[in-house]
Amino acid sequence: MPQVPSEKALVPFVSVENMMRLVHQVGIERMLLELTDAIEADFRRWEIFDKTPRIASHSRDGVIELMPTSDGETYGFKYVNGHPKNSNDGLQTVTALGLLAEVSSGYPVLLTEMTLLTALRTAATSAMAARHLAPGNAKTMAMIGNGAQAEFQALAMKAVVGIEAVRLYDIDPRATAKTARNLAGSGLAVTSCRSAQDATEGAEIVTTCTADKQFATILTDNMVGAGIHINAIGGDCPGKTELHRDILLRADTFVEYPPQTRVEGEIQQMAPDYPVTELWRVVRGEAAGRRDARQITLFDSVGFAIEDFSALRYVRERLKGTDFYQDIDIIADPDDPRDLFGMLQRAKA
Ligand SMILES: NC(=O)c1ccc[n+]([C@@H]2O[C@H](COP(=O)([O-])OP(=O)(O)OC[C@H]3O[C@@H](n4cnc5c(N)ncnc54)[C@H](O)[C@@H]3O)[C@@H](O)[C@H]2O)c1
Repeated sequence: MPQVPSEKALVPFVSVENMMRLVHQVGIERMLLELTDAIEADFRRWEIFDKTPRIASHSRDGVIELMPTSDGETYGFKYVNGHPKNSNDGLQTVTALGLLAEVSSGYPVLLTEMTLLTALRTAATSAMAARHLAPGNAKTMAMIGNGAQAEFQALAMKAVVGIEAVRLYDIDPRATAKTARNLAGSGLAVTSCRSAQDATEGAEIVTTCTADKQFATILTDNMVGAGIHINAIGGDCPGKTELHRDILLRADTFVEYPPQTRVEGEIQQMAPDYPVTELWRVVRGEAAGRRDARQITLFDSVGFAIEDFSALRYVRERLKGTDFYQDIDIIADPDDPRDLFGMLQRAKA
């Protein structure tokens, strides 16, 4: 008689196709808003999480990382890569998948694609930071680096912060044309620019989201006027930065998890005790965010495990009542828990 796996042995799996359906059912801007709130809720309870810098395996061409955390009830991790040269081979720079498990039994409760979800959660985290750090009336964002993350960043800043215009620049004009095409009809006024300097003209928020596996200088000091909020996404690995260090000296720097950011972020260019403010303290009202209209604020984003946990938790909740997942038979499930060998015989021809 065929054996039926127990309920816990079947794990809900969200394919890329189903993630796309979920995003459209919720609506992308609404989902970015809800994800921003989910991440912010977890930043408010920062202390209860297990925290460790992500575990990175570096190679000549890129990095593969594992990003684990737990809130004591649920454990989560993301597998993610970063390979700037991939796009030359028709592959993506960043791909990811993620898992949630219940701490009490260790059994997984969700397995999902996370390439799309990473773009969404990165944009939502940027928007959360901007909500606390950007000038209150920010209407224009410069978007430097028009690759896979770009549209998500622009739409999150629109949905959460209320920007109305985006000024695009990429060294590859085809990337800018793609982003402009994708944002047409979004309600954002889109301008394609000829240089990074041109893109920053009149922008209250400057997002850098480029990919290069070397120290780069996407922004120089002269491009950064008083009162700007810089959302630096692409500097997220040892040896991979986007800002000239003089900018850091003029800015107040906000980070996710200092032990990780000091190794991976823009501040790897600075002394190990360079002063930073942890974003979760700002979210909780325990540290100042933007203090005045002339202050330059910098969110030195690298991406931290708690943001992925929040996104996974959000997707698990959002899946309820939908058919946007398949139950997959991924956990071995002997009738007698000690008889794993006996279970193996079920498949004997
Ligand atoms: N902080 C985070 O949480 C987080 C999350 C996801 C991705 N990232 C990082 O963000 C970056 C962008 O990711 P993506 O998936 O959009 O990559 P992508 O390869 O799709 O796009 C990168 C774009 O940057 C452009 N570019 C490279 N050098 C440039 C320069 N000097 N000036 C202007 N444009 C330049 C490229 O032409 C390309 O279009 C990567 O470095 C990635 O590692 C960070």
